[in-house]
Amino acid sequence: LAELSALLHSRIRDVPDYPEPGVMFKDITPLLADPSAFTALTDALAEFCVANGATKVVGLEARGFILGAPVAVRAGLGFIPVRKAGKLPGATLSQSYDLEYGSAEIEVHAEDLVAGDRVMVIDDVLATGGTAEASVRLIRRAGAEVAGIAVLMELGFLGGRERLLPALDGAPLDALLMV
Ligand code: PRP
Ligand code: MG
Repeated sequence: LAELSALLHSRIRDVPDYPEPGVMFKDITPLLADPSAFTALTDALAEFCVANGATKVVGLEARGFILGAPVAVRAGLGFIPVRKAGKLPGATLSQSYDLEYGSAEIEVHAEDLVAGDRVMVIDDVLATGGTAEASVRLIRRAGAEVAGIAVLMELGFLGGRERLLPALDGAPLDALLMV
């Protein structure tokens, strides 16, 4: 596990002052470009899905799609995209959430999640927890159960885990790296 953490950590690039001054951006593109690191990440997240009895994988647009789709395939589960508002053609459920300035909205095809589903949410980063919290609400409103949330990295200093805790209602939150 320490070996996996070291490998993943070594493939994440710190980009200072992006997208704005004072912010340290965590760039995962070197990890995606390294097949052994990307495979190790996919395997670890897929194991977490299986260990928690997930029946479906939700990926959060956009970087959660890149990680979540191979995880779903590896775990033998269906992949459900949660998209930014206005991108899905069918009947949707939508959930808005607050950002530092303004708000955002995510959507899922209503027919993709039903009662009896146990859904694992996959994303790259847990920052303030706003996106993940909105996805949990969306999944529950669809009548499905949340099997857990799994992210590559957690920005611990932003307090996302504490914010998410009440919404999680006992479901596990797993971060492979704390940065
Ligand atoms: C980023 C990141 C997470 C989210 C975490 O997505 O990929 O999804 O922010 O932030 P939060 O915990 O404060 O909600 P973003 O929408 O910025 O970009 P993306 O479309 O490239 O994934
Ligand atoms: Mg994102």
